[in-house]
Amino acid sequence: MTTSKKTTIKRIGLLTSGGDAPGMNAAIRAVFLAAHHYNIDVIGFKHGYNGLINQDFFQLQHEQIHGLINQGGTLLKSARCQEFHHPKGLNQAANTLIKEKIDALIVIGGDGSFNGLLKLQHYWSGQVIGIPGTIDNDIDGTDYTIGFTTAINTAIEAIDKIRDTADAFERVFIVELMGRHSGQITFNVGIATGAEQVLSFENFNAEDKLARLTEIANDIEQAQSSLQSSYIIVIAENLWPGGAHQLALDLIEHTKTDCTACILGYIQRGGTPVAKDRILATKMGVAAVQAVIEQKTNIMIAEQDNTITTVNLSTAVQHKKRVSNSLIEAQKNILAISAQCT
Ligand code: F6P
Repeated sequence: MTTSKKTTIKRIGLLTSGGDAPGMNAAIRAVFLAAHHYNIDVIGFKHGYNGLINQDFFQLQHEQIHGLINQGGTLLKSARCQEFHHPKGLNQAANTLIKEKIDALIVIGGDGSFNGLLKLQHYWSGQVIGIPGTIDNDIDGTDYTIGFTTAINTAIEAIDKIRDTADAFERVFIVELMGRHSGQITFNVGIATGAEQVLSFENFNAEDKLARLTEIANDIEQAQSSLQSSYIIVIAENLWPGGAHQLALDLIEHTKTDCTACILGYIQRGGTPVAKDRILATKMGVAAVQAVIEQKTNIMIAEQDNTITTVNLSTAVQHKKRVSNSLIEAQKNILAISAQCT
C-alpha cells in the first residue's frame, strides 16, 4: 500500500452478492480500513445488487467493522438479483451510482456476481473491481476464493463425526457436498476425510451410471468383508440424477446393504472464518482499494502461488476453474494403495 494519501477518489461502493461465504465480513473490514487510510468513504449497498436498484445503502462507520473479522455471513446482507439480468434493473443501478457520486464499485461474490459487473459497465463508467468470495472455489484465475477453506474444514469436521457412527454401526454413508457444478469441495473433503469413494463431475459420467453402481456395490462388499468397518461416499451436489437420496436407493437395490444419505447443505456456508480465509480476505480487500487508487477497472483481485495479483474480469468468468489433475490423481492413488493394504 502506498503511504501517499493523495487521490481523487472520494466514494467507493461496496456490496456482497450471491451465496454468502465465511470471510466476506473480513473483506468488508479490509476495504473499509484501506479506504479510510485514503480518506475515502465506503458506501455499503445492501442485499447484493438489489441495494443498487432499490437505493438501499448506508455509509460504513468505524464502529461497524469492530469485531467483524471473525463473523460469518455478511454485514451487507447478500442476495441473488433477477432484475440485474434486465436493462431496466441495470439502468436503475447505474442511476443510483451516478446520483450517489460513487467513483468505484467493489463486489465480493462469485462468477454470477462478476457477470453482473461486466454488464453494468455498459451502463455506468465508474471503476469496477471484483473480490472472489464463494465457498465453491470455482473461479478461474485465483487459487482460492474467500470462504472455501472454512467450508471444507466445516465439512471435514462433520464427516469425521459421521465416521464415528459409521464405524460404530459398520454402516455405509453417502454425504452430499455443496459446490454447485464444481468438484473442488468434494475432492478436497474426500481426500481429507479418507472417503472410500469420491463422486464428482471429474470422475463420473451419467451415461456410465449403471456400471458405476455395480463398481461401487462390489467395492462396498469387498470393504465390508475385509477389516474395514465403515464406508463413506462423498458426492458433489447436482451430480447424481435424483441426488444423494436416490443414490442411496440405487445402492440399496444393488448391494442389499443399507446406505444412509446425509446432505450437509448450508452448514458449509456459515461459521467463523478460519485463519486462511481471514488473511486472504484482508489481503484482497486492501488490494481492491489499492487497485481503485491506481485507476484500475474491470479486474478481479486474485491469489496465485501465494501472491496477490489481478486478472481481467471477463477472463475470470470465461471458464469454470477445473479441479487440478494432481488432486484427482492423488485421490485415485491413495484409494488404490489403501485397497492393496486390506
Ligand atoms: O455458490 C454457493 C452455493 O452454496 C453453492 O455451493 C450452492 O449450489 C448454491 O450456493 C446454493 O444456492 P442458494 O443459496 O441460492 O440455495
